Amino acid sequence: MATHKLLLLPGDGIGPEVMAEVRRVLAVIERKGLIAFEIDEDLVGGSAYDVHGKAISDEAVAKAHAADAVLLGAVGGPKWDGVAYEHRPEAGLLRLRKDLELFANLRPAICYPALADASALKRELVDGLDLMIVRELTGGVYFGEPKEITDLPNGQKRAVDTQVYETYEIERIAEVAFELARVRGNRVTSAEKRNVMKSGLLWNQVVTATHAQGYEDVKLDHMLADALGMQLVRAPKQFDVIVTDNLFGDILSDVASMLTGSLGMLPSASLGAEDPVTGKRKALYEPVHGSAPDIAGKGVANPLAMIASLAMALKYSLGKPDLADTLDRAIAAVLANGYRTGDIYVEGAKRVGTAEMGEAVAAAFDKLLAA
Ligand code: IPM
Ligand code: MN
Repeated sequence: MATHKLLLLPGDGIGPEVMAEVRRVLAVIERKGLIAFEIDEDLVGGSAYDVHGKAISDEAVAKAHAADAVLLGAVGGPKWDGVAYEHRPEAGLLRLRKDLELFANLRPAICYPALADASALKRELVDGLDLMIVRELTGGVYFGEPKEITDLPNGQKRAVDTQVYETYEIERIAEVAFELARVRGNRVTSAEKRNVMKSGLLWNQVVTATHAQGYEDVKLDHMLADALGMQLVRAPKQFDVIVTDNLFGDILSDVASMLTGSLGMLPSASLGAEDPVTGKRKALYEPVHGSAPDIAGKGVANPLAMIASLAMALKYSLGKPDLADTLDRAIAAVLANGYRTGDIYVEGAKRVGTAEMGEAVAAAFDKLLAA
């Protein structure tokens, strides 16, 4: 059996707590002899800064390059508020995305039937929701230069961020969206602000042109990003795949998370280009939620987004879509049995902590595998 290299980067805040539950699920997979793993762990974010004076070490980045999949918990927290901008915890994550060229960020928002009442929206709006946000992850205003604050002669300051996209960056993310749509609902909605931004205009044109070059079988719509935000909370089930830039994707995926009941439920995959020789993609998997410093260390964080991120790794990096499916079903079963962390708690449910939730998923997974 081939050995798969996994790099675990638990990070800060609740990151280590939710990563411990991934370890529990990995142990089930190993015990059953389904995959052989070579698991390494390293630091990222504030925890890396505390040791190395920067948000990720070169050694950890090298390990990430060599891994079949990287699993990351979360980065950041008030402890590092005073740290120099280039060393802030988020810089570690952004460096990984950029260095590994993980341009395609897949953020599925699925509303488990058992959670439809935990959403801020009415049950009928979200029950059965299954959409996928495809967020461009290595371009746009996150990385565009110049990016600076300068002093003006009048004593004021001037801040600049640069929103910039080139044709190839839009083309490749559009292709990912169309390919994904084909194995889902076959519809793509592209979001930008072409009414005020040149980058939005180019985005719109390139997505349209890419569609015309071999993806006409997929239904394509364009929506202004603000209108899409509104539609996401008005009638979210109208969407299948949403493709958008780095910043709009960041915001819209947080919105989408609340449709599913909690930010604690959303996994994500960040993928690079397919290697023409090996067919492999560099990949990093992380929950959409942050480090939640307010509840860190209390054992109450929801580990489901982190565990669902492992499911995405099984599907997209480890060639085990069936195992991914089984793990997703284990999560659904545990929710159906009434297990709830605080963020998704409803009256009458069984309130559990991080470890108890992880144990329940691992046990359900084990049972489904035996069936
Ligand atoms: C996310 C996060 C990151 C982002 C932060 C931590 C830099 O919010 O993955 O959505 O803005 O991309
Ligand atoms: Mn975000």
